[in-house]
Amino acid sequence: MSIKNILNKDNFSKDDIVNLLKLNENDSNELYDFAYQTKKKYVGNFTYLRALIEYSNICSKNCLYCGIRYGNKNVTRYTMSDEEILESVSYAMDNQYSSIVIQGGEIESKKHTEHINDLIKKIMDLSEGKIGITLSLGEQSYDTYRLWRQSGAKRYLLRIESSNEELFYKIHNKNENHNFQKRVECLKMLKDSDYQVGTGIMIGLPEQTLDHLADDVFFMIDLDIDMIGMGPYIEHIDTPLFEKREMLLPLNERFNLSLKLISIMRIFMKDINIAASTAMQTIDSEGKEKALKAGANILMPNITPLQYKENYKLYENKPKFDELSNEFMENIKKWVSNAGDIIKFDKHGDSIHYKNKQFKVK
Ligand code: 5AD
Ligand code: SF4
Repeated sequence: MSIKNILNKDNFSKDDIVNLLKLNENDSNELYDFAYQTKKKYVGNFTYLRALIEYSNICSKNCLYCGIRYGNKNVTRYTMSDEEILESVSYAMDNQYSSIVIQGGEIESKKHTEHINDLIKKIMDLSEGKIGITLSLGEQSYDTYRLWRQSGAKRYLLRIESSNEELFYKIHNKNENHNFQKRVECLKMLKDSDYQVGTGIMIGLPEQTLDHLADDVFFMIDLDIDMIGMGPYIEHIDTPLFEKREMLLPLNERFNLSLKLISIMRIFMKDINIAASTAMQTIDSEGKEKALKAGANILMPNITPLQYKENYKLYENKPKFDELSNEFMENIKKWVSNAGDIIKFDKHGDSIHYKNKQFKVK
């Protein structure tokens, strides 16, 4: 079947998705263009910005792919003080970011829950309730999610990493800390707590097949998520998964698969938010621009102070940019306009999908 025939269908089958993922580079452009037109129609040709603050690299988990896993003793651990975090929030507000993401390693304790709760309240106070807060703090209890939501956080990112249970346990050792069902439960609890919920996967994992990726697409649709952050897996030398590096696709193929998945999710779910991931920019210097052209609508510049940022290495990435510089903002503007988009500086950029769902309920 030709690509046009597939794209004009109302619903894709699993085979259709696998065929789209197999497209060669030339034909992929047709997929990207179609996804960009879908974005324009359903969420507009707009790009929204979130300032990312990686506030702590202390993590109790041992994900086999991640550079800041608990077991990696080569990492200098840090936690930014509340004052430093609030300074970063002020920087975000002064630089026209109307949303921030607070990301950190995963810790589950009463003290941590209360600390984050206080922090959310302080950020709300500082910004007079104006800044949009997204959290990316891993698996937590239902009560914790609800508490943070009540205090003002409104979006939450928790990637499923892979929706295939078998593959999930090839990248996480199954134990009380790493459990597939718990991850799915958490995503449901987040939805139940009225967050705009984002999830995503890593693309190009060792032993991952196109079938797995097609199933991931259906997983995200079935869960009816509001936002997606997904990107290529990039190996890190200090992690156990590095041993399987011989099995990996070349980086550019992992990148192209990521672009195709962005397009497929845009075409399928239409009004969700999709981020252009940093990992894509790590592989290709035009990564963010290409992701926007393929249907993404969110950029997340990293405003973590430089002295901390270098210790938050999930994968091997030489920071190419000082994302706190004016020059970087000029780059963002260039990528966005090259993609044909307009930056909406003054808007939170809430997921239209989430809003539409609320509307349907009423
Ligand atoms: N390559 C790509 N992405 C990674 N992440 C963690 N380690 C890696 C890696 N080696 C992603 C995971 C996690 C998010 C915070 O970062 O998907 O959910
Ligand atoms: Fe911790 Fe997240 Fe890294 Fe897993 S992916 S080790 S939870 S920071």
